[in-house]
Amino acid sequence: MILEKNKPIGVFDSGVGGLTVVKSLCEKLPYENIVYFGDTARVPYGNKSRNTIKRFSEEIVAFLLKKKVKMIVIACNTASSLAVDHLKKKFKLPILGVIEAGVEEALINTGNKKIGVIGTNSTVKSGAYERLLLRKESKACLVSRSCPLFVPLVENGMIRDRITQLIVERYLREFNKNGVDTLILGCTHYPVLKKVIQKVLPNVTLIDSASAVAKKTEFILKEKKLASNGDRGFRVINCFVSDAPGDFKRNARIFFAEDINVSKAMLEQ
Ligand code: DGL
Repeated sequence: MILEKNKPIGVFDSGVGGLTVVKSLCEKLPYENIVYFGDTARVPYGNKSRNTIKRFSEEIVAFLLKKKVKMIVIACNTASSLAVDHLKKKFKLPILGVIEAGVEEALINTGNKKIGVIGTNSTVKSGAYERLLLRKESKACLVSRSCPLFVPLVENGMIRDRITQLIVERYLREFNKNGVDTLILGCTHYPVLKKVIQKVLPNVTLIDSASAVAKKTEFILKEKKLASNGDRGFRVINCFVSDAPGDFKRNARIFFAEDINVSKAMLEQ
Protein backbone atom coordinates (compact mmCIF):
# COMPACT_ATOMS: atom_id res chain seq x y z
CA MET A 1 0.00 0.00 0.00
CA ILE A 2 1.27 3.50 -0.86
CA LEU A 3 1.66 5.80 2.14
CA GLU A 4 -0.62 8.84 1.93
CA LYS A 5 2.35 11.25 1.76
CA ASN A 6 3.86 9.39 -1.20
CA LYS A 7 0.77 9.75 -3.34
CA PRO A 8 0.88 12.30 -6.18
CA ILE A 9 -0.62 15.78 -6.28
CA GLY A 10 -3.42 16.06 -8.85
CA VAL A 11 -3.34 19.20 -10.99
CA PHE A 12 -5.83 20.13 -13.68
CA ASP A 13 -6.43 22.77 -16.30
CA SER A 14 -8.49 23.32 -19.42
CA GLY A 15 -5.42 22.51 -21.52
CA VAL A 16 -1.69 23.01 -21.60
CA GLY A 17 -1.42 26.37 -19.75
CA GLY A 18 -1.61 24.74 -16.33
CA LEU A 19 1.93 23.52 -16.90
CA THR A 20 3.01 26.96 -15.59
CA VAL A 21 1.65 25.73 -12.27
CA VAL A 22 3.35 22.33 -12.65
CA LYS A 23 6.63 24.14 -13.32
CA SER A 24 6.29 26.21 -10.14
CA LEU A 25 5.27 23.12 -8.14
CA CYS A 26 8.35 21.26 -9.39
CA GLU A 27 10.64 24.14 -8.39
CA LYS A 28 9.10 24.50 -4.94
CA LEU A 29 8.40 20.83 -4.18
CA PRO A 30 11.03 18.71 -5.93
CA TYR A 31 9.99 15.48 -4.17
CA GLU A 32 6.34 15.52 -5.15
CA ASN A 33 4.95 13.36 -7.93
CA ILE A 34 2.31 14.98 -10.10
CA VAL A 35 -0.63 13.70 -12.14
CA TYR A 36 -1.84 16.41 -14.52
CA PHE A 37 -5.04 16.49 -16.51
CA GLY A 38 -5.47 18.90 -19.43
CA ASP A 39 -8.96 18.99 -20.90
CA THR A 40 -7.70 19.58 -24.44
CA ALA A 41 -10.87 18.24 -26.08
CA ARG A 42 -12.97 20.98 -24.46
CA VAL A 43 -10.54 23.92 -24.15
CA PRO A 44 -11.02 26.91 -23.89
CA TYR A 45 -12.87 27.24 -20.60
CA GLY A 46 -12.46 31.03 -20.62
CA ASN A 47 -15.78 31.79 -22.29
CA LYS A 48 -17.95 28.97 -20.89
CA SER A 49 -20.75 29.15 -18.33
CA ARG A 50 -20.55 28.31 -14.63
CA ASN A 51 -22.61 25.11 -14.91
CA THR A 52 -20.51 23.76 -17.74
CA ILE A 53 -17.24 24.46 -15.92
CA LYS A 54 -18.60 22.89 -12.72
CA ARG A 55 -19.54 19.73 -14.61
CA PHE A 56 -16.19 19.49 -16.45
CA SER A 57 -14.24 20.10 -13.22
CA GLU A 58 -16.21 17.46 -11.33
CA GLU A 59 -15.47 14.86 -14.01
CA ILE A 60 -11.77 15.69 -13.89
CA VAL A 61 -11.54 15.48 -10.09
CA ALA A 62 -13.28 12.07 -10.23
CA PHE A 63 -10.64 10.96 -12.76
CA LEU A 64 -7.76 12.24 -10.60
CA LEU A 65 -9.17 10.48 -7.55
CA LYS A 66 -8.88 7.20 -9.43
CA LYS A 67 -5.18 8.04 -9.85
CA LYS A 68 -5.01 8.12 -6.02
CA VAL A 69 -3.99 11.76 -5.61
CA LYS A 70 -3.59 13.16 -2.09
CA MET A 71 -4.62 16.72 -2.96
CA ILE A 72 -5.98 18.67 -5.93
CA VAL A 73 -4.56 21.93 -7.29
CA ILE A 74 -6.87 23.70 -9.73
CA ALA A 75 -4.35 25.35 -12.04
CA CYS A 76 -7.03 26.87 -14.26
CA ASN A 77 -8.15 30.31 -13.09
CA THR A 78 -11.49 29.98 -14.86
CA ALA A 79 -12.25 26.66 -13.13
CA SER A 80 -11.01 28.08 -9.81
CA SER A 81 -13.30 31.09 -10.20
CA LEU A 82 -16.39 29.13 -11.14
CA ALA A 83 -16.09 25.71 -9.53
CA VAL A 84 -13.82 25.67 -6.47
CA ASP A 85 -16.59 26.03 -3.85
CA HIS A 86 -18.65 23.34 -5.55
CA LEU A 87 -15.68 20.93 -5.67
CA LYS A 88 -14.75 21.58 -2.03
CA LYS A 89 -18.31 20.70 -0.98
CA LYS A 90 -18.45 17.59 -3.14
CA PHE A 91 -15.04 15.98 -2.48
CA LYS A 92 -13.25 15.31 0.80
CA LEU A 93 -9.56 15.70 -0.07
CA PRO A 94 -7.77 19.10 0.14
CA ILE A 95 -8.57 21.22 -2.93
CA LEU A 96 -6.69 24.43 -3.63
CA GLY A 97 -7.79 26.93 -6.26
CA VAL A 98 -5.28 29.24 -7.83
CA ILE A 99 -7.25 32.42 -7.06
CA GLU A 100 -7.04 31.95 -3.29
CA ALA A 101 -3.24 31.83 -3.50
CA GLY A 102 -3.06 34.80 -5.88
CA VAL A 103 -5.26 37.01 -3.70
CA GLU A 104 -3.27 36.20 -0.55
CA GLU A 105 0.02 36.95 -2.30
CA ALA A 106 -1.35 40.24 -3.68
CA LEU A 107 -2.42 41.34 -0.19
CA ILE A 108 1.08 40.64 1.14
CA ASN A 109 2.59 42.79 -1.62
CA THR A 110 0.24 45.75 -1.99
CA GLY A 111 1.01 49.05 -0.29
CA ASN A 112 -2.23 50.92 -1.09
CA LYS A 113 -4.67 47.93 -1.23
CA LYS A 114 -5.59 48.86 -4.81
CA ILE A 115 -5.19 45.58 -6.67
CA GLY A 116 -5.72 44.68 -10.31
CA VAL A 117 -6.53 41.32 -11.85
CA ILE A 118 -6.43 40.22 -15.47
CA GLY A 119 -7.96 36.98 -16.74
CA THR A 120 -10.33 35.33 -19.19
CA ASN A 121 -13.82 36.70 -19.84
CA SER A 122 -15.44 34.06 -17.60
CA THR A 123 -12.98 34.66 -14.74
CA VAL A 124 -13.57 38.42 -14.80
CA LYS A 125 -17.35 38.07 -15.24
CA SER A 126 -17.59 35.66 -12.28
CA GLY A 127 -16.46 38.35 -9.80
CA ALA A 128 -14.69 35.59 -7.83
CA TYR A 129 -11.45 37.54 -7.31
CA GLU A 130 -13.34 40.56 -6.00
CA ARG A 131 -15.46 38.51 -3.57
CA LEU A 132 -12.45 36.69 -2.16
CA LEU A 133 -10.37 39.84 -1.89
CA LEU A 134 -13.07 41.73 0.00
CA ARG A 135 -13.64 38.75 2.30
CA LYS A 136 -9.95 38.87 3.25
CA GLU A 137 -9.54 42.68 3.32
CA SER A 138 -12.66 44.84 3.39
CA LYS A 139 -10.70 48.03 2.62
CA ALA A 140 -9.22 46.62 -0.61
CA CYS A 141 -10.33 47.74 -4.04
CA LEU A 142 -10.14 45.60 -7.19
CA VAL A 143 -9.87 46.68 -10.83
CA SER A 144 -10.36 43.81 -13.30
CA ARG A 145 -9.79 43.47 -17.03
CA SER A 146 -10.20 40.52 -19.37
CA CYS A 147 -7.44 39.98 -21.93
CA PRO A 148 -8.85 37.29 -24.27
CA LEU A 149 -6.11 37.61 -26.89
CA PHE A 150 -3.28 36.66 -24.53
CA VAL A 151 -4.05 32.90 -24.54
CA PRO A 152 -3.84 32.44 -28.35
CA LEU A 153 -0.72 34.64 -28.51
CA VAL A 154 1.05 32.42 -25.98
CA GLU A 155 -0.15 29.16 -27.52
CA ASN A 156 1.17 30.31 -30.88
CA GLY A 157 4.57 30.99 -29.32
CA MET A 158 4.35 34.76 -30.08
CA ILE A 159 5.91 35.70 -26.76
CA ARG A 160 8.44 38.28 -27.93
CA ASP A 161 6.64 39.52 -31.07
CA ARG A 162 5.94 43.20 -31.64
CA ILE A 163 2.21 42.45 -32.04
CA THR A 164 2.15 40.97 -28.54
CA GLN A 165 3.76 44.09 -27.10
CA LEU A 166 1.12 46.25 -28.83
CA ILE A 167 -1.77 44.11 -27.54
CA VAL A 168 -0.34 44.11 -24.01
CA GLU A 169 -0.13 47.93 -24.20
CA ARG A 170 -3.68 48.18 -25.56
CA TYR A 171 -5.15 46.04 -22.76
CA LEU A 172 -3.05 47.19 -19.85
CA ARG A 173 -1.98 50.82 -20.22
CA GLU A 174 -4.93 51.91 -18.01
CA PHE A 175 -3.10 50.24 -15.10
CA ASN A 176 -0.41 52.93 -15.31
CA LYS A 177 -3.05 55.55 -14.46
CA ASN A 178 -5.63 53.93 -12.18
CA GLY A 179 -3.52 53.74 -9.00
CA VAL A 180 -3.23 49.94 -8.92
CA ASP A 181 0.12 48.99 -7.34
CA THR A 182 -0.21 45.19 -7.62
CA LEU A 183 -1.57 43.16 -10.53
CA ILE A 184 -2.57 39.49 -10.34
CA LEU A 185 -1.83 37.52 -13.51
CA GLY A 186 -5.11 35.61 -13.21
CA CYS A 187 -4.74 33.09 -16.02
CA THR A 188 -2.50 30.07 -16.54
CA HIS A 189 -0.88 31.55 -19.65
CA TYR A 190 -0.05 35.04 -18.40
CA PRO A 191 3.13 34.24 -16.42
CA VAL A 192 4.69 33.43 -19.83
CA LEU A 193 4.09 37.10 -20.79
CA LYS A 194 5.44 38.45 -17.51
CA LYS A 195 8.44 40.24 -19.05
CA VAL A 196 6.36 42.05 -21.68
CA ILE A 197 3.71 42.99 -19.10
CA GLN A 198 6.35 44.30 -16.68
CA LYS A 199 7.84 46.43 -19.47
CA VAL A 200 4.45 48.06 -20.06
CA LEU A 201 3.77 48.44 -16.30
CA PRO A 202 7.20 49.16 -14.79
CA ASN A 203 5.86 50.42 -11.46
CA VAL A 204 3.32 47.69 -10.78
CA THR A 205 4.16 44.53 -8.78
CA LEU A 206 3.09 41.47 -10.75
CA ILE A 207 1.69 38.47 -8.90
CA ASP A 208 2.39 35.22 -10.69
CA SER A 209 -0.45 33.03 -9.47
CA ALA A 210 1.49 29.90 -10.50
CA SER A 211 4.24 30.52 -7.95
CA ALA A 212 1.72 31.75 -5.37
CA VAL A 213 -0.19 28.47 -5.64
CA ALA A 214 3.02 26.42 -5.31
CA LYS A 215 3.86 28.27 -2.09
CA LYS A 216 0.39 27.63 -0.69
CA THR A 217 0.49 23.95 -1.76
CA GLU A 218 3.69 23.49 0.25
CA PHE A 219 2.00 25.06 3.26
CA ILE A 220 -1.08 22.81 3.00
CA LEU A 221 0.96 19.61 2.55
CA LYS A 222 3.02 20.41 5.65
CA GLU A 223 -0.01 21.39 7.67
CA LYS A 224 -1.84 18.17 6.76
CA LYS A 225 1.33 16.07 7.18
CA LEU A 226 1.10 15.01 3.55
CA ALA A 227 4.48 16.25 2.30
CA SER A 228 6.64 13.62 0.61
CA ASN A 229 10.23 13.33 1.81
CA GLY A 230 11.52 11.92 -1.45
CA ASP A 231 12.28 8.44 -0.11
CA ARG A 232 10.58 6.97 -3.19
CA GLY A 233 13.30 8.18 -5.58
CA PHE A 234 12.89 10.47 -8.58
CA ARG A 235 9.88 12.63 -9.15
CA VAL A 236 7.37 11.44 -11.78
CA ILE A 237 5.08 13.70 -13.79
CA ASN A 238 2.28 11.96 -15.68
CA CYS A 239 0.06 14.00 -17.96
CA PHE A 240 -3.31 12.95 -19.29
CA VAL A 241 -5.28 14.82 -21.94
CA SER A 242 -8.79 14.40 -23.31
CA ASP A 243 -7.78 14.80 -26.98
CA ALA A 244 -4.91 13.38 -29.06
CA PRO A 245 -1.63 14.23 -27.25
CA GLY A 246 0.31 15.65 -30.24
CA ASP A 247 -0.47 19.39 -29.88
CA PHE A 248 -0.20 19.20 -26.11
CA LYS A 249 3.29 17.70 -26.36
CA ARG A 250 4.40 20.39 -28.83
CA ASN A 251 2.91 23.31 -26.84
CA ALA A 252 4.17 21.92 -23.54
CA ARG A 253 7.64 23.19 -24.44
CA ILE A 254 6.43 26.81 -24.27
CA PHE A 255 5.54 26.29 -20.62
CA PHE A 256 7.79 23.56 -19.35
CA ALA A 257 11.32 22.54 -20.33
CA GLU A 258 11.30 18.94 -19.07
CA ASP A 259 10.15 15.99 -21.13
CA ILE A 260 6.84 14.68 -19.86
CA ASN A 261 4.78 11.53 -20.39
CA VAL A 262 1.48 12.37 -22.07
CA SER A 263 -1.37 9.92 -22.68
CA LYS A 264 -4.93 10.26 -23.82
CA ALA A 265 -7.58 9.48 -21.21
CA MET A 266 -11.36 9.20 -21.32
CA LEU A 267 -13.39 10.95 -18.64
CA GLU A 268 -16.53 9.32 -17.29
CA GLN A 269 -19.49 11.59 -18.00
N1 DGL B 1 -6.63 27.89 -18.30
C1 DGL B 1 -7.49 29.02 -18.53
C2 DGL B 1 -7.43 29.95 -17.31
O1 DGL B 1 -6.48 29.96 -16.56
C3 DGL B 1 -7.10 29.77 -19.79
C4 DGL B 1 -7.38 29.01 -21.08
C5 DGL B 1 -8.85 28.76 -21.30
O2 DGL B 1 -9.61 29.71 -21.59
O3 DGL B 1 -9.27 27.62 -21.16
O4 DGL B 1 -8.36 30.68 -17.09
